[in-house]
Amino acid sequence: MKKAAGWAALKYVKKDSIVGIGTGSTVNHFINALETMKEQIKGVVSSSIASTERLKKIGIPVFNANEVAYLNIYVDGADEINPTNDMIKGGGTALTREKIVAAIAEQFICIIDDSKKVDVMGSFPLPVEVIPMARSYVGRELVKLGGDPCYREGCITDNGNIILDVHNLKIIDAKALENKINAIAGVVTVGLFANRGADVVLEGTLNGVIKS
Ligand code: 5RP
Repeated sequence: MKKAAGWAALKYVKKDSIVGIGTGSTVNHFINALETMKEQIKGVVSSSIASTERLKKIGIPVFNANEVAYLNIYVDGADEINPTNDMIKGGGTALTREKIVAAIAEQFICIIDDSKKVDVMGSFPLPVEVIPMARSYVGRELVKLGGDPCYREGCITDNGNIILDVHNLKIIDAKALENKINAIAGVVTVGLFANRGADVVLEGTLNGVIKS
């Protein structure tokens, strides 16, 4: 189902464009698909060291985000997505760079298998990237918001920071929560993508890919 969703995203790739690339097992299928038209695109902007290595290995040019003013699409997966296309992301640790590349792009194409759709987000622990010296302070602030933060052991992000995974949240107003958590001193990024949600969702199911 992830493979079907990844390959379905290929039709959104425009010739001679630069494509925004996310991170994760579903995106890896999209990267495989993109290889089939690598001569027809200028290159990509990548959201993680892991995706960059994979892209370089197959000979797709990777541009620095600072060199690129416009991307027509950003293709990425999600850990949870609700009916209004708000997402939890960051299970694979790349949330900050994912948010940056998504912000540059006109359209966010979200590729998922059917396990990612939920009515209310929060069963998947919400990742928050935090400056290491702020870990305890941010943790206390997240408890005040009703969550149960858990330090992701042994995990250092591509930006040299740590991740707190916040359990036991029931996310009703995703935009408000995104803004509140982003406003805590020491938070680099929260893995809520609500102010900039998905524009197109391609969901791989047993009966094919459903677009919404
Ligand atoms: C990485 C992410 C991924 O998009 C998310 O974790 C989904 O991953 P997968 O496609 O492997 O299920 O946000 O930071």
